[in-house]
Amino acid sequence: MKTFNILAIETSCDDTCVALVKDGYIKTNIVISSSEEQSKFGGVVPELAARMHEESIIYAFSQAVDEFNLDDIDLIAYTKNPGLRVCLNIGEALATNLGMLINKPVLPVDHLHAHMFAFYDAPRKQKLAFPFLSLIVSGGHTAIFLVRSVIDIELLNYTVDDAIGEVYDKVARELGLGYPGGPAIDALYHHDNVRLNFLNKFPNPEQQFSFSGLKTAVLNYINQCKQKKCELDVKTIASSFQALAVEIIVAKLRYYLNENRLLDKYKVRYIVVGGGVASNKLLQKRVRDIKEVPTYFPSDKTLCSDNAGMIGIYANLLHKNTD
Ligand code: KG4
Ligand code: ZN
Repeated sequence: MKTFNILAIETSCDDTCVALVKDGYIKTNIVISSSEEQSKFGGVVPELAARMHEESIIYAFSQAVDEFNLDDIDLIAYTKNPGLRVCLNIGEALATNLGMLINKPVLPVDHLHAHMFAFYDAPRKQKLAFPFLSLIVSGGHTAIFLVRSVIDIELLNYTVDDAIGEVYDKVARELGLGYPGGPAIDALYHHDNVRLNFLNKFPNPEQQFSFSGLKTAVLNYINQCKQKKCELDVKTIASSFQALAVEIIVAKLRYYLNENRLLDKYKVRYIVVGGGVASNKLLQKRVRDIKEVPTYFPSDKTLCSDNAGMIGIYANLLHKNTD
């Protein structure tokens, strides 16, 4: 039987990504990151990211398709939204022009929906079971969804201010740890160094996510230290910040499963985590400590953070859904 081949494109932020996905299996997943350039500015500058996409996209495309025959592509999928407009436009232009050139259908895909299904990279090993609870933790988003099917996705909770990855990046910048900051803070974390409590009151798990209080408390602490010219205990600050950030997220998941009775009401089958922060080691451990249901993470770091493989996985599921 002929395979169903998807060429997938993702350019929503600072990574230029092209992938080839055959019957739901990722064959190539090329990510060209501009984070080194962005790190000079301490965060993502949209116009710079767009210029880097323009420079890299054809190279990423040729790497992804390698010796693959373009006539064998059945569908072109690309990230439509959400993301930085100037960056999304570049992926969309490649997708639509290529679609016209090789006369193949073009499918716009939601970036967050793709993160939700990034864990599903080996469809023959396991069948999807609905509904599941999806936690998305990235540089631009922090949200919890109830996923009833590939297309029936209900938003339960979304941050009212900063996204968790953004806070990691800001704290890391103040600590002189560079960009992106999440991996650096994660690497410094040790439970023996959790000594500071930045919040007088733990956030109410019933409310929407909010990280601006935690961010301000940590940044104020660092700035006061700097003003007093005392030595920054980077490990203690990073570990204490990470412990609190992760507990706020885990408390929210527990709330939805138990107090909000999603487990009883909808028989939630499992928890899935996606987004760049999903590769955080403490978060993985603490989410796995939730014993009520199994938990799934994308199988590697590339699939957690922005990549086109997840766009192809999700596009394949959408295609099968309409078959
Ligand atoms: O999903 P992603 O690649 O891009 C967005 O869609 O935003 O996520 C990037 C974010 C950055 O803020 C980065 O610092 C964070 O994910 N991140 C981490 C870790 N690895 C990446 N945060 C905490 N721990 C990590 N290990
Ligand atoms: Zn993302």
